[in-house]
Amino acid sequence: MKIAPFQPGQEYAAQLDAEDPLAHFRERFHIPTTKTGEESIYLSGHSLGLQPKSARAYLEQELKDWAKLGVEGHLHAKNPWLTYHRLLTEQTAALVGAEPVEVVVMNSLTVNLHLMMASFYRPTPHRHKILIERGAFPSDQYAVNSQLLFHGYEPSRSLIELVAREGESCIRDEDIGSLIDRDGDSIALILLGGVNYATGQLFDLAEITRAGQRKGCTVAFDLAHAVGNIPLRLHEWGADFAVWCSYKYLNGGPGCNAGCFVHERHARAWDLPRYTGWWGHDEKARFEMGPEFHPMEGAEGWQLSNPPIFALATLRASMEIFSEAGMERLREKSRLLTAYMEFLLREKKSEKYSIITPLDPERRGAQLSIRVPTGRGVCDRLISQGVIGDWREPDAYRVAPVPLYNSFHDVYSFVQRFSLALS
Ligand SMILES: Cc1ncc(COP(=O)(O)O)c(C=O)c1O
Repeated sequence: MKIAPFQPGQEYAAQLDAEDPLAHFRERFHIPTTKTGEESIYLSGHSLGLQPKSARAYLEQELKDWAKLGVEGHLHAKNPWLTYHRLLTEQTAALVGAEPVEVVVMNSLTVNLHLMMASFYRPTPHRHKILIERGAFPSDQYAVNSQLLFHGYEPSRSLIELVAREGESCIRDEDIGSLIDRDGDSIALILLGGVNYATGQLFDLAEITRAGQRKGCTVAFDLAHAVGNIPLRLHEWGADFAVWCSYKYLNGGPGCNAGCFVHERHARAWDLPRYTGWWGHDEKARFEMGPEFHPMEGAEGWQLSNPPIFALATLRASMEIFSEAGMERLREKSRLLTAYMEFLLREKKSEKYSIITPLDPERRGAQLSIRVPTGRGVCDRLISQGVIGDWREPDAYRVAPVPLYNSFHDVYSFVQRFSLALS
């Protein structure tokens, strides 16, 4: 595919679509429609991904087996429910660059974060601090604050926040490195969003892992906005744990189960304290119903409950599509789509907005956050016209051209409508 320099004009968008080897994947998704029946310009895949058309068949298979078999479906469904979550293991491992033993799909993101912190946040009087980015997603802030309090530490003393420099929106890589160098000896846990939800900044996860672990910190990531967006190599980078949800770029459906990565070096750390439930217990002995807990090896040993099969079914539909498209090819298209959007926005030379997200393609994924000082009206007006982005207070309009189902024409039309809506 053509790389920049881009050209303005609708014909050029059509040319990019014609040359796009992934364009046909759009047909595999339901694109929401406006009241008058036209396809909307859906740019909210960073919030809730679209429904794969195949999701219905995956779901219906399980509904059918439930109707036909009742409880016998645990063993005799076409895809037995007892081991259903494993149908996702290989694809999930491939997507995040992990070994199969390192990943599991379970619970929801914040639950997994707490489960991981129960095991991996082990504060001592000399090393009790948690490092997060200022402006981390609120649920992460609440979770780390509650973990600090739970262990008897005051967030005002034990929470360190990475901040952007005065007048800047994103945190500089060198500032992350120097903070870890300076304070690393007192930091128990580094927990950063892979891609910050508000600014769209992609952190250098390999380097942060190296720097943190050199100082003896546990290093972990919330990958809600990174998974399915950025190629990840969690095993190689060596992060201790990571969590993510699957309803954004992964298109699992609203509230779909989350993912969890625990590095292989912890796979047999039987003495790690953990919150336990029967689904994490040695599966060979699970139905002996004995009183003693023996965790399964790897990430599966942190499972609590038997999983909701219907949610996993719709996620499988999307993961199949990811496997076909390939994360590297998706990233290649994503770079182009986002750069094209940036190009068109800058072409307008408007002073009514500015881009918050890093301009370096290596430091961002599919999302652009656009600062609009006049407030959320523009977002609401555009939604009423079928242009679906979202707003994060105080002034960020977030849009994500998603390479699986957005076209270059979507991006072109969005910029024209956005610009008109602001005039
Ligand atoms: C970065 C981030 N962390 C945590 C969450 C919370 O996810 P959940 O409600 O699945 O726990 C979200 C939800 O959007 C998120 O974007």
